[in-house]
Amino acid sequence: MHRFLYKNNNLYCETVKIEDIAHKVETPFYLYSYATLLDHYRKIKRAFAPVKPLICFSMKSNSNLTVCRALVKEGAGLDIVSGGELYKALKIGAKPEKIVYASVGKTAMEIDTAIKKGILFFNVESASELVIIENLCKRLNRRTKISLRINPGIRPRTHRFVTTGISESKFGLDFSTAGEIFAKRNAFPHLDIIGLHMHIGSQITNKAPFVNALRKIAPFIKNLRDKGISINYINIGGGMGIIYSKERPQTAKEYARAILPILKKLKVKVILEPGRFISGNSGVLITRVLYVKKTPRRRFIIVDAGMNDLIRPALYDAYHEILPLRRLGKVETFIKTDVVGPICESADYLAKNRRLPKVEEGDLLAIMGTGAYGFSMSSNYNARPRAAEAMVIKGRYYIVRRRETYQDLIRGESIPRILGTSSKVPPSSMKKI
Ligand code: LLP
Repeated sequence: MHRFLYKNNNLYCETVKIEDIAHKVETPFYLYSYATLLDHYRKIKRAFAPVKPLICFSMKSNSNLTVCRALVKEGAGLDIVSGGELYKALKIGAKPEKIVYASVGKTAMEIDTAIKKGILFFNVESASELVIIENLCKRLNRRTKISLRINPGIRPRTHRFVTTGISESKFGLDFSTAGEIFAKRNAFPHLDIIGLHMHIGSQITNKAPFVNALRKIAPFIKNLRDKGISINYINIGGGMGIIYSKERPQTAKEYARAILPILKKLKVKVILEPGRFISGNSGVLITRVLYVKKTPRRRFIIVDAGMNDLIRPALYDAYHEILPLRRLGKVETFIKTDVVGPICESADYLAKNRRLPKVEEGDLLAIMGTGAYGFSMSSNYNARPRAAEAMVIKGRYYIVRRRETYQDLIRGESIPRILGTSSKVPPSSMKKI
């Protein structure tokens, strides 16, 4: 499943002892395993091989340049949601014809750049967006391919914040609006509206919602074809769940086995947009115990990583396994503990009421399964520089993003002269209204 395993009671990333890295890299830091990343990409690729899919790694799960480069070098495309992700994708040499772009709120400037760069698909989420893309294409005298994102009205059993395909959610188009757009497609002479897109949610551990969504989409496609409208692509999104604790998610093979029969019948090119499945278990967050504090009701381990580094527990009450980098072995005693960060919020925790081996101040811990939506959702809250990121590749570790400095924290800020400037911070420019 992943390559973070104990050898002689020391936690290793592939063949490298993590403690050795932690002696050189200041904590907290994210650590990725190149082999695990590629393993997961290859698992999906193999499972869906009969339809030769384009697998577009979802950059929002982890947009570190090295992570994305590793996957692109392996043949992956990229799923982007912003001009910033497009910028990063092109920086690492991703081919535009392997980039798909989804977002309910693409700006005209972002769309303009993506058209000029020649991306593969816009996954369009509203009728108004389609008008903007058509107008920009016309002005640029370019054509572009469009997938309509269908909201199939399916409720997968996952956290409500990561459910995206129910009829109340802001994403995609209902079948009847999508049908109307296809009927009026001649009004968009610069657009090839030839694909359908769906993404029903994230961390979905059972295949039924995907099957049900596709069972709704298949007759819709047939119906369009009967009317002479051709659909050449289907993008089935991401959403495959992974093991954080005791989940038993479908494997890539089981997932493929369940939906390949439907996909094959549709005779369309298949695109997938997995994020978490590829990056989730490929990364861990390494943190140091600052203090152990006992109160009459609780025992707290206060670590140097906070909700600014990993917001998933605070935001979704998410579970991440916590392992000591050095374990004692058989004689371990377990104690119920809260693992909390240094931030001034009660939501700043990494684990609650967790049975953990006894740890001491100065010990190092690994927060597991944090390769997806870990660093990519991190912030500078409490003016904390964001963590470094490192990757083990073939027996060596590389710093793939240095830890931010205090200078990074004030980059771009300025103080109006009227407030008197500090010689260390530039004065801001005055804007007339
Ligand atoms: N495609 C689209 C259009 C998406 O919106 C997403 C994720 C993906 C693909 C990738 O989904 P994945 O394979 O990673 O499940 N921050 C949350 C997850 C939010 C997912 C948003 N969309 C978390 O930490 O659980």
